[in-house]
Amino acid sequence: MSEVGNLGEAEAANRLMRLAKDIARHDKLYHDRDAPEITDAEYDALVRENRALEEAFPHLVRADSPSKRLGAVPVASGLAKVTHARPMLSLENAFSADEVTEFVARIRRFLSLAPDTEVALTGEPKIDGLSCSLRYENGQLVLAATRGDGAVGEDVTANVRTISDIPQEIAAAPAVLEVRGEVYMAKSDFAALNERQEAAGSKIFANPRNAAAGSLRQKDPAVTSARPLRFLAHGWGEASEPLAGTQYEAMKRIAGFGIPVSDLLVRTATVEDALAHYDRIEHERAELPFDIDGVVYKVDRLDLQERLGFVARAPRWGLAHKFPAEKAETTLEAIDIQVGRTGKLTPVGRLTPVGVGGVIVQNVTLHNRDEIARLGLRVGDRVRIQRAGDVIPQVIENLTRDTLRASYDFPDHCPMCGSEAVAEEGEVDVRCTGGLICPAQRLERLKHFVSRGAMDIDGLGEKSLVEFLELGWLKGPADIWRLKDHRGQLIGREGWKEKSVDNLLAAIESRKGFDPARFLFGLGIRHVGAVTAKDLMRAFGSVEELERVARSDDAIAELSAVEGVGGVVAEAIVDFFHETHNREELAELFELARPATFVSNARETEWTGKTIVFTGSLETMSRDEAKAQAERLGARAAGSVSAKTDLVVAGPGAGSKLKKAEELGIRVIGEADWAKIVAEA
Ligand code: IVH
Repeated sequence: MSEVGNLGEAEAANRLMRLAKDIARHDKLYHDRDAPEITDAEYDALVRENRALEEAFPHLVRADSPSKRLGAVPVASGLAKVTHARPMLSLENAFSADEVTEFVARIRRFLSLAPDTEVALTGEPKIDGLSCSLRYENGQLVLAATRGDGAVGEDVTANVRTISDIPQEIAAAPAVLEVRGEVYMAKSDFAALNERQEAAGSKIFANPRNAAAGSLRQKDPAVTSARPLRFLAHGWGEASEPLAGTQYEAMKRIAGFGIPVSDLLVRTATVEDALAHYDRIEHERAELPFDIDGVVYKVDRLDLQERLGFVARAPRWGLAHKFPAEKAETTLEAIDIQVGRTGKLTPVGRLTPVGVGGVIVQNVTLHNRDEIARLGLRVGDRVRIQRAGDVIPQVIENLTRDTLRASYDFPDHCPMCGSEAVAEEGEVDVRCTGGLICPAQRLERLKHFVSRGAMDIDGLGEKSLVEFLELGWLKGPADIWRLKDHRGQLIGREGWKEKSVDNLLAAIESRKGFDPARFLFGLGIRHVGAVTAKDLMRAFGSVEELERVARSDDAIAELSAVEGVGGVVAEAIVDFFHETHNREELAELFELARPATFVSNARETEWTGKTIVFTGSLETMSRDEAKAQAERLGARAAGSVSAKTDLVVAGPGAGSKLKKAEELGIRVIGEADWAKIVAEA
């Protein structure tokens, strides 16, 4: 923080401008993109500096000052906006016991209480999730919304209905009740999710909070339902009648409705007791199943809360007592390289084991080549590490200044197979170019192919895969259906009996008529996760048809026309089918096992299986909405007109596609007729 007191007016004005811009940018990164660039502590430091400057120079407070905003403004995420019945507020932060004592003293002053009057507080963990308001009317869950900017949030009702912690119905509750709390992801669920994301070549989340936010703010509730989200209540908004006379009793009532409330919620009579509870929670922090970043205190008596009211963005009756960031110093003993399924080389730092906030850390992710260069890391360096988001420890600073030891050269060959390792232009990740000849990639790809979300072959775990790879029985996925040729050899090997071998072979046989969407997901094409695979199979019906489209001249346009498929995904699909060895592998596979036809959950209509092209501008709906309508009818929205097109919906400004449709004699209708078709279906 710069020295507020020493700044001149011009400097202060400049600094306030910079802070307003920076804080707005970090808000956006955090709330909208779920991709923060700075730690919470660094963010808090910026907010504090801004506040201190504004207090010293009140006439310089800007119209766009961060202190006037709550969080990020809701953006175009595709979710509908909801105005909260009561604003969703934020909390003032404290970082020391003295600040907590001052908080209570301030309350006494505000309420004109004698300095020795007891002010009972509640204390509970501050969960690192995202706030959500659940509205119950006559006991039924009718609306769920994110906080957004505090006044207007996003409608996430359909997504919240997939969270099993949250009851759809509550009994003996006020006619209107908004329960507020945090949607979060448990640490273990987060780690497992990231493994699945990594296996699918999808986005890796930085921490459980970002994973929870990314999972909740989805247009497709099916995505949310596949993510292990949880909920803990910490308060309420609108209530048609009082829940109780105190915060503590009100929370007990909410728990009585079957809505989870922290079991670390206590009521304390004195500041000393409140601080003792903070110590206890900090002590238990590492063992808790979810991330927390502090303790929240609230004035227990609701009549006092009422009198205390709010200042700007936060209630006078509440305080967040944050934990200090967990950091430690240790030595970087080695840098190992791990090779993932897509060939990505990930550097992992091996450390002299060190305790960080109650957990022994011995490995850190070093992310990529650029990160090692940025920190100037060499083996043997002293480093400062931090447990970010409580899960993946990171190196935040290199403490070594001497430059006599050799610098670290990032490998230009794959440590597993010796193939060249390169970073494509504009990419930070270095990848092994060995493809399927690389044993690391082979193992990772096979692991993914047989995994639960893909082919789900019971009994074919990592240990067996490694064994079969080493025996030379497995090279690619097709060989899985050839394992039966090795039945005799396998029986009698260590750990294998006739029964276990036959069970495995039966599990493999049972997957012969597999679901094409799972199969496609299992192929591990970059960016094609389980949901995208389903979207693609809904549009194309089979992997063979997808292959045909991916190799056609219009591939990118055709593929990007599918809902949920963007340019990056389309390119990855084209690249995959462009590789001869991938096509050969598929052909081989299809001789041994045949996917069933895709069973869509869309209704059968006269449009099922038909191909529709939208062209020109649409006036009453977006292109995306029109495509979604087509898909709901079981049809496929394509990007270009061909002999296979069944219908063209043309709006004003339609050009070459309309012309081509007319040449080919394809039925052409306008937007109004399309709307009629949709309404009738
Ligand atoms: S009370 C008006 N209690 O922290 C008071 N908030 O920094 C509203 N949070 O927006 C919040 N755990 O999303 C409260 N036990 C807890 C909490 C908690 C996490 C979040 C909440 C709030 C933010 C404020």
